[in-house]
Amino acid sequence: MNPIAKAREAVTHSAHTVPNRRAGGHDTAPNSGRDPVLALRGAAVRVGGRTLWSGVDLRIGSGEFTAVLGPNGVGKSTMIKVLLGALPAAAGEVRVLGTRPGQANDRIGYLPQRRSFDASLRIRGVDVVRMGLDGDRWGVPLPFPSARRQAARARVDEVIELVGASAYAHRPIGQCSGGEQQRLLIAQALIRRPELLLLDEPLDSLDLPNQSAVAALIGRISHQEGVSVVMVAHDVNPILHHLDRVVYLAEGGAAAGTPEEVITSGTLTRLYGTPVEVLRTSDGRLVVVGQPEAPAVHTDRHSGGPS
Ligand SMILES: Nc1ncnc2c1ncn2[C@@H]1O[C@H](COP(=O)(O)OP(=O)(O)OP(=O)(O)O)[C@@H](O)[C@H]1O
Ligand SMILES: [Mg+2]
Repeated sequence: MNPIAKAREAVTHSAHTVPNRRAGGHDTAPNSGRDPVLALRGAAVRVGGRTLWSGVDLRIGSGEFTAVLGPNGVGKSTMIKVLLGALPAAAGEVRVLGTRPGQANDRIGYLPQRRSFDASLRIRGVDVVRMGLDGDRWGVPLPFPSARRQAARARVDEVIELVGASAYAHRPIGQCSGGEQQRLLIAQALIRRPELLLLDEPLDSLDLPNQSAVAALIGRISHQEGVSVVMVAHDVNPILHHLDRVVYLAEGGAAAGTPEEVITSGTLTRLYGTPVEVLRTSDGRLVVVGQPEAPAVHTDRHSGGPS
């Protein structure tokens, strides 16, 4: 396989803005500003004949940073699939950017759950970022190809600078560290100026300093650039100080609200139906003790996420 085809295959399941699923001709009005970015009411999801979660109520406003938490296999990545319209909700109502899931996907940046690029991959970080532009669907229609190329190049540079990746963006992505690759993928997800970023475990496999740095970057994108972020995470601590909201998923239900409301012994004990203790360390970190792992055998952890 030639290097470009190999790279395209490698980024197929990486960050990108996702194509729209405009099934009907209606219900596609842009978000008026009054609508929440995300609104779930009594939402439930079923896969393989099994209900993963149900009765989920959630409203997320513009520019908010929300974490989706819960044990392996509980349905966090599946929730992202529902938000993208790749899987219908089994019950309840789901609205994304003021419309039905899948209808506003060109206003969403998406980073699937993944590991890293093959070390032998020669394509440069800057080219991976540029792939997020997806050719003609991007931006204002410019009359001349040269003007389009120039605008594209400027946006690539801008977004690489925003994520602090300028120093290594011209290196082959396979030679970048996990944290560097994650920043480049976030840049790719941001390139088309999405209103909503869906990030599935972007801190996975990063060391603690990199987790903090990438968490701070995502917090900045949310609060300074005004992009709403929904991020799946395993550990709330690296993002705790940047978060506006958390959603804890459990078999059968969910608890949503501010971190102070949700991450308490009482709320999590009620949610998981088993004693859960939330301890706060002297440096402000939270330790959740007794949260059960879901009994399900988890098979798709690093298979590339929703498709
Ligand atoms: N298409 C499918 N058919 C049957 N079962 C599925 C399907 N997709 C996902 N599942 C199952 O649904 C459950 C939830 O999967 P999901 O990937 O959403 O979990 P998760 O919370 O993201 O877990 P992790 O933290 O390990 O990434 C798992 O048990 C998974 O095997
Ligand atoms: Mg997952």
